[in-house]
Amino acid sequence: MTDVIDGDAVAADVREGLADAIGTLDDAGVTPTLATVLMSDDPASETYVSMKQQDCAEVGIEARDVELDPEAPAEELFETVADLNADPAVNGILVQMPVPDHVEDRDVIRAIDPAKDVDGFHPENVGRLVAGDPVFKPCTPHGVLKLLDAAGVETEGADVTIVGRSNIVGKPLANLLLQKADDGNATVTVCHSRTEDVSEKTRRADVVIAAAGVPELVDGSMLTDGTVVIDVGVNRVERDGESTLVGDVDFESAKSKARAITPVPGGVGPMTRAMLLYNTVKATSRQAE
Ligand code: GUN
Repeated sequence: MTDVIDGDAVAADVREGLADAIGTLDDAGVTPTLATVLMSDDPASETYVSMKQQDCAEVGIEARDVELDPEAPAEELFETVADLNADPAVNGILVQMPVPDHVEDRDVIRAIDPAKDVDGFHPENVGRLVAGDPVFKPCTPHGVLKLLDAAGVETEGADVTIVGRSNIVGKPLANLLLQKADDGNATVTVCHSRTEDVSEKTRRADVVIAAAGVPELVDGSMLTDGTVVIDVGVNRVERDGESTLVGDVDFESAKSKARAITPVPGGVGPMTRAMLLYNTVKATSRQAE
């Protein structure tokens, strides 16, 4: 029987685990506060930000909602970030990506105070992660590690193949899995659009993590029996005239081979959201020290 890993349940456990830290902060008169900045009218981005705010409310984190006109000059975004950096009541800052084309993503990321960078995207935080001394682990990679742990999957000595090399998922995940740490010690292969034979790399893996942003890229024919499959993809596609959500894994064929697999939705997605709350509480505790 294939284990379908329940991301909603593991995310609920993570949220519950935050209650003590939030209670301690509350006793000290501190309410963790996350500022979300949205400079987009993309409906998906709007939905993501509003879900993050709802999650905050549920666990006792205050959410500050900042919305900027997507046509506004870049300076407006940089001034907003500078104000939030300087505001001691704001503990975490999340600028929803992508920002409009006239604003450079990497400049925005660099503008955020690393101590409030709950995404873990700032070069200082990326550097610390690569050096084996992370402060804020990026939310999706951290969520994937928690899911593997909850599913009883041992990474030590395992062959892990990641399909996708993004700055948000593939690269930080590869670094975390490589580390000489509890949730590391894996042998990691990272595939990308120029990889010659992806199937050869996925077939020899104990764990396959699909994070390429390509609908149903990984199917059962690319897997060996007993593989653990983690699907990071969230792709909206048209099926039989209806809009539906699929991952980067062809779920049914992959499930027939997998020992354990995450569904879409209900797998990695809820974990990403839970780890954002975790990082916000962590940022608050560090700032309160
Ligand atoms: N856009 C898509 N995913 C993310 C994320 O994890 N953080 C931010 N800031 N923007 C995103």
